[in-house]
Amino acid sequence: MYCQKTAFQLDPTVTYLNCAYMSPLLKTVQEAGIAGIRRKRNPWQISPEQFFGETDELRKDFAKLINSKQPERVVVVPSVSYGMANVARNLPVSKGDQIVVAGEQFPSNVYPWMTLAKERGAELITAEPPDDVSQRGKIWNERILEAISTKTKMVAVGNVHWADGTLFNLEAIRERTRDVGAWLVVDGTQSVGALPFDVQEIEPDALVCAGYKWLLGPYSIGMAYYGPALDGGRPVEENWINRDKSEDFAGLVNYSEDYQPGALRYEVGEHSNFILVPMMLAALRQLTSWGVGNIQDYCRSIVTDSVNRLVAAGYQIEKDEYRAAHLFGIRMGKQHDSDQIKKVLDDEKILVSWRGDSIRISPHVYNTKEELARLSELLLR
Ligand SMILES: Cc1ncc(COP(=O)(O)O)c(C=O)c1O
Repeated sequence: MYCQKTAFQLDPTVTYLNCAYMSPLLKTVQEAGIAGIRRKRNPWQISPEQFFGETDELRKDFAKLINSKQPERVVVVPSVSYGMANVARNLPVSKGDQIVVAGEQFPSNVYPWMTLAKERGAELITAEPPDDVSQRGKIWNERILEAISTKTKMVAVGNVHWADGTLFNLEAIRERTRDVGAWLVVDGTQSVGALPFDVQEIEPDALVCAGYKWLLGPYSIGMAYYGPALDGGRPVEENWINRDKSEDFAGLVNYSEDYQPGALRYEVGEHSNFILVPMMLAALRQLTSWGVGNIQDYCRSIVTDSVNRLVAAGYQIEKDEYRAAHLFGIRMGKQHDSDQIKKVLDDEKILVSWRGDSIRISPHVYNTKEELARLSELLLR
C-alpha cells in the first residue's frame, strides 16, 4: 500500500499524527454527508425503505470488516457508552462477583461497570500495568489473565490501550474467560479499522466501536456487535423501529411484543440517520477496499525506522510484540524536557496527543515515513 493523502483534504502545513483523537474526513465521506443533508431539502426523497436499507448496508459492511457472517448481530450506536449500557443491562452479575478491567481504561468502558458493581454488590478489579517499563506489555497482559477467576463475570478491555497502544492478547483473555464462564466485552474504538479483528476467532460477547477515529466516520455514530449471550436480552430503550414488522408504516400501532431479529433490539432509536449513515458507509467501504491488514502494515512501514532511532536514543517505547503500529506512546526519559519538546512540536505544527509525560503518536495512511522521520529528528535534537 502507498500513501493515501490525496483521498483526504488535510491542511498541507500540518503534520497530523493524531488519528486516535479524531480521524480527518475522506473526501468521499464528506460528499456522502453533503448529499445526505441535501436529501432532506425535499423529504419525499426519503422513502420508508431508506429507513431500513441503508443501515442494513452498514451492518453488512461492518460485519465484513470484523469477519462476521451475521450482519443481524451488528447495530448502530451513538457512542461507546450507549453500546456498553446494553451490556450492563444484561450482564448476569450479583453480590460477590467480579468484573475485570485494565488500568486507566477509557471512561466509557469503566463507568458502566463501576455503577453496575455498586448496584449489585459486585467488585471491579483493575489490572494495573507494572512500573517497570522493560517488560511492561508482557507483565500487564499476565496481570489481566491472573485477575480472572471463577468469580469473574466479565472482562471489559480494548484490543489496544487507548493512551499508549499496549496490545492486549484477546485470544488468551478469551480462552481464560471461557474457562471460567465470563463474558468478554471489547472496546474496539482504538483498533478496529486499523488493526485486524476477527469476530469468528475472538467470539466476543460484545464489541463496541466509536466511529470517528479508526473507522474514519463522522462523530456521534459507532458500530456494535452483540454475540449470542445477549440474545433475548433487554435493550436500554424501546424504539419502534426495533420491533417486529416496523417496516409496515401503516401498521405501527399494531404493537408487537417481538423485536427485529438478532441483536437489532439493541440499536439506537432513529438509527436511520440520513446524514451519518451514508458517511459511515462510505468510510467502511474505503477501509475494506484498502484492507485493514494493509493499513496496519503501512503504519508499521512508516514508523519502524523512527521508533528504532528513538529507542536507541533513550526514549521508551513498548516492544513491537506488545504494541500496535497505528497507536503508540513515546515515554520521556529523565534527560528530556517535555515542555520544550511540546513547544518545538507546536511550532513545527506536528500534531500529537500528550498523556502525562508521554507523547501518543497515531498515524494513518495519509502520513508518510518522512513525516515520522521529521518528528524523530526533532525529538533527537
Ligand atoms: C478507547 C475509547 N473508547 C471510547 C471512546 C469514546 O467514547 P464515547 O463514544 O462513549 O464518547 C474513546 C475516545 O477517545 C476511546 O479512546
